[in-house]
Amino acid sequence: MHISLNIDENSPIQQIDSFELKKRNISLRIKRDDLLHPLISGNKWRKLKYNLVEMQAQKKQELVTFGGAFSNHIHACAAAGKHFNFKSHGIIRGPELDTSNPTIKFAKQCGMQLHPITRIEYKKRHNEEYLAQLQQRFPNAYLLPEGGTNHAALQGCKELAQSLPESDYIICPTGSGGTLAGLIEGATPQTKVIGIAVLKQAGYLVDEIKALSMRARTQSNWHLLCDHHGGGYGKFSPELWHFCQTMQVQHQLPLEPIYSGKMMFALWQLINADYFPAGSKITAIHTGGLQGLDGLRYRQLT
Ligand SMILES: Cc1ncc(COP(=O)(O)O)c(C=O)c1O
Repeated sequence: MHISLNIDENSPIQQIDSFELKKRNISLRIKRDDLLHPLISGNKWRKLKYNLVEMQAQKKQELVTFGGAFSNHIHACAAAGKHFNFKSHGIIRGPELDTSNPTIKFAKQCGMQLHPITRIEYKKRHNEEYLAQLQQRFPNAYLLPEGGTNHAALQGCKELAQSLPESDYIICPTGSGGTLAGLIEGATPQTKVIGIAVLKQAGYLVDEIKALSMRARTQSNWHLLCDHHGGGYGKFSPELWHFCQTMQVQHQLPLEPIYSGKMMFALWQLINADYFPAGSKITAIHTGGLQGLDGLRYRQLT
């Protein structure tokens, strides 16, 4: 199997103009990685790219990965399987599979084989023994962790940081920390890299980010901000959802409230609290995940 990684990574950069920014002489640019590919968008592609290289190097023909029923990662891996013509399996946190759920429906249409498991079994997804059993069950498969975060994922995010215009700050939403770790690897030491944790009590991620990135261990030009989770993973207030809709109308910036919207909402609050010195150049990474909006509508959460 040969996968040609023929995805154009030059996603656009959008400058945001607003009174709040002008007043402080702050330049805010959004790296629109949500536009990187219609289906394998944002940090999903960045993290998948070198995992696909590794999968080929290991001569594996199939991909096995993990995710919740509305997962952006499952959606992107299913799309990648179809696009690059390899077999994909999704181990889905169940216990049941709702085949009307838009993410699951899409994954099935792409040909992903879906394996729902109980929540108790799902908890074992990082357990070495469990993974060894899974490898025996799928001997031709490359096992990719939930969210696509591992060492191979960092390289693509590092390249993303290196491709950005000179910035005083780079900011991204943080779930497992892989994207932030890769951005720290690629950013210059003069740039501050900020992750907005989208889950509650995310302080433990600092050690995980340090375990992934040597630069995160040796440099202090990065921060994980843990007070902007808005109630926890997947939770969002009416104010946050209103903010997402306003950004769409006023700046033509599409956001969902789980990752990109949560980051932008936090960024806006930080700007208004004068967290950034006047004259700062900020680049925010739109990490994609807009398919999640379908899942929120399906659950009548928006
Ligand atoms: C759209 C989107 N943005 C950001 C993240 C968080 O990235 P990471 O898990 O690398 O911290 C995710 C999850 O992977 C995601 O789906």
